[in-house]
Amino acid sequence: MNNLESLVRENIRNLKPYSSARDEFKGKADIFLDANENSLGSPIQSQWNRYPDPRQTELKAAISQLKNVAVDRMFLGNGSDEAIDLLIRAFCEPGRDQIMIMPPTYGMYQVCADINNVGIISCPLRPDFNLDVDAILSSSTNSVKMLFICSPNNPTANAMKQADIELILQNTNAIVVVDEAYIDFSGEPSLISLLDKYANLVILQTFSKAWGLASLRLGMAFADPYIIHILTNIKPPYNISGLTQQMALDAIKNLELKDKMVATLLDQRKYIMDNLRLLKMVDQVFPSDTNFVLVRFKNSKPVFDKLIQSGIIIRDRSKALHCENCLRFTVGTESENKRLIKKLKSLDI
Ligand SMILES: Cc1ncc(COP(=O)(O)O)c(C=O)c1O
Repeated sequence: MNNLESLVRENIRNLKPYSSARDEFKGKADIFLDANENSLGSPIQSQWNRYPDPRQTELKAAISQLKNVAVDRMFLGNGSDEAIDLLIRAFCEPGRDQIMIMPPTYGMYQVCADINNVGIISCPLRPDFNLDVDAILSSSTNSVKMLFICSPNNPTANAMKQADIELILQNTNAIVVVDEAYIDFSGEPSLISLLDKYANLVILQTFSKAWGLASLRLGMAFADPYIIHILTNIKPPYNISGLTQQMALDAIKNLELKDKMVATLLDQRKYIMDNLRLLKMVDQVFPSDTNFVLVRFKNSKPVFDKLIQSGIIIRDRSKALHCENCLRFTVGTESENKRLIKKLKSLDI
């Protein structure tokens, strides 16, 4: 058994996966009476009466071209949230194993671990929001099966140093999940190119952020083919709807529109950051590799309350570690950002 095989839970390693009607028939036919669908159609007169391709063959081929990653290194989930949950379920034995998280970070790693009765070791980011590599490696015992590194990180907005992540990859046998949900907004490159080098690296990306398709629920995991094989075995057979597959294919054909939106959002991010820096109530505007900005106020509470009162909803992160008095602003449209800045300027705080 190699390292990856030995990391997978025994029942998952030995699982005989569900085989759907669409999995079993691969030839050509024109009468499909195998999946208990409604043969007549649907009230909306379209093709939605049929189950979708459980392997997402066409969509995966398009993403493979887009990302330059082989199809057998790619898993698609109902949002990257599904991939996070499936990874924990595949590798972590409930009541025995642990994951490691680096707070302050995205909340779903902890929630998924809690749901699965998997323990959590916290190794906080340093106050400058970088990884504490020594602490991570020294607390990475055998029962820690998986480390979650969010880069660029939510809510701190910074990308982690590649050298730090590689040092961790080189010194642990555990699975290292690098969540790149915000990578399209970053000046730093994706770590996808490291997949060949590290069998224990998993990269998560999503269509929910730069692609503007949060409602479709489409996330990607890139990893060693064995990890992809295990995730594919344990996923619900039709986890990506036909509508999602079709819409995502359409979106990929319009790649340049996505790039244009990213460029606009980056301009708008600069506008927000430049203007926030001029406000007396602001203590620090943190650098951002994402489509949001983390800001430390001298006193965040009245700012948060007054913005809410005026119908502008932002995220209060002041209770998160190292984030005292911090609020998180998603970059909006030009007019939303103007309204936000105007409102902040008008506050007598
Ligand atoms: C770091 C991070 N990862 C993953 C997600 C979830 O992405 P998805 O919509 O693909 O489930 C989010 C959403 O906010 C996020 O901030």
